[in-house]
Amino acid sequence: MTPQGISHYMQRMQTIAFFSQKGGSGKTTLAVHAAVAAEESGKRVVIIDTDSQKSATTWGVARTTATPVVATAAATDLVRVLDAAREEQMTVAIVDTAPHAAPDAARIVRSVDLVVIPCRPSAFDIAAVSGAVDIVKAAGSRAVFVLSACPTRSPEVAETREILFGYGFPIAPVEIMERRAFARAVATGRAVTEFESNGKAANEIRMLWEWLQEQMA
Ligand SMILES: Nc1ncnc2c1ncn2[C@@H]1O[C@H](COP(=O)(O)OP(=O)(O)OP(=O)(O)O)[C@@H](O)[C@H]1O
Ligand SMILES: [Mg+2]
Repeated sequence: MTPQGISHYMQRMQTIAFFSQKGGSGKTTLAVHAAVAAEESGKRVVIIDTDSQKSATTWGVARTTATPVVATAAATDLVRVLDAAREEQMTVAIVDTAPHAAPDAARIVRSVDLVVIPCRPSAFDIAAVSGAVDIVKAAGSRAVFVLSACPTRSPEVAETREILFGYGFPIAPVEIMERRAFARAVATGRAVTEFESNGKAANEIRMLWEWLQEQMA
């Protein structure tokens, strides 16, 4: 078999960045949860933490299992680290980001197949969305929105959905609700699917991962 023939049988690595210009929107929470959901669906997953606060890295250290692998990298090193992950035959790379300044943000957004922009149904999050959208559009990248940490029975959720719709990117049909389980999971190096596998939070995460897979198909 030729080397080309071999590479034909290798699964292409999917690359997804959780990205927003707003601190606390849910990037790290969703990134680590997506990573565990991806692994549960049979993928070989690496999380690449480009945030100097290293929240995803801290989550990885707190874990009692060796996977998903968490790599820490500067945004300027992302392309190299993604190449290394491909060499290691990873099939999904999840990039967690900080609210980066423009050059690093553009670099990250350009390097992935899909950008996921989490947005809380709050005025501050909504105001910060246009900055992220401008960066994604300037880079010519594909992006989707996820409504994150939504309070129950809050009219702001539908209002936020309507405003996001105006930007023209797909919006995840599943809303990630505000649940203590998410914070508890991340603080203890786990994902909600791992300690409350049949819970509502776990169900939301699985639905989100399935939908993200459809978006990348
Ligand atoms: N769905 C949720 N339900 C409850 N709490 C949540 C949810 N999502 C995030 N949080 C909490 O909100 C805070 C911010 O979340 P997270 O760290 O994921 O955001 P971030 O966008 O990564 O922030 P930063 O920009 O600082 O990296 C954390 O305390 C987290 O536990
Ligand atoms: Mg974070």
